[in-house]
Amino acid sequence: MSAVTARSAVIAVLNGPNLNLLGEREPHIYGAETLADVEERCRRAAEALGYAVDCRQSNHEGALVDAVHELRQCAGFVVNLGAYTHTSIALRDALATVSGPVVEVHISNVYSRETFRHLSYVAPLALAVISGCGTRGYEFAVAAIADRLAYSQG
Ligand code: DQA
Repeated sequence: MSAVTARSAVIAVLNGPNLNLLGEREPHIYGAETLADVEERCRRAAEALGYAVDCRQSNHEGALVDAVHELRQCAGFVVNLGAYTHTSIALRDALATVSGPVVEVHISNVYSRETFRHLSYVAPLALAVISGCGTRGYEFAVAAIADRLAYSQG
């Protein structure tokens, strides 16, 4: 991303705990792609729609809250908060302050897994939840954000 790119032309992509291990971590569930592959997918999808991306990952709840604050003027947010999806009211409250649409992504279908994964603190404030489409879900999320922004701008 260019240092001069206005936040309004940037889609934030936020990944939470353990997603830095994509490609190595439980590949039968999360696949073979790395986080760098996923971020590159997002970058290409966003660029094709006229947006840049700012991709962040952290294993720490407070660092993710700080990232949301820093990026909150971005055009939209693609978020896979990993396990914090199911536990973090702090991240839910941070995401409630952002100006653009939020799309929640899960690589796996969380609803076909353990019941503790069925609760999301983010989903009620999200434009959409994409769960179970693998890493393609991130591209669908970028497209959903661009679509909503195009539509809302008339
Ligand atoms: C995940 C699903 C979460 O339940 C889990 O804790 C993850 C990854 C997914 O992408 O499928 O870390 O968000």
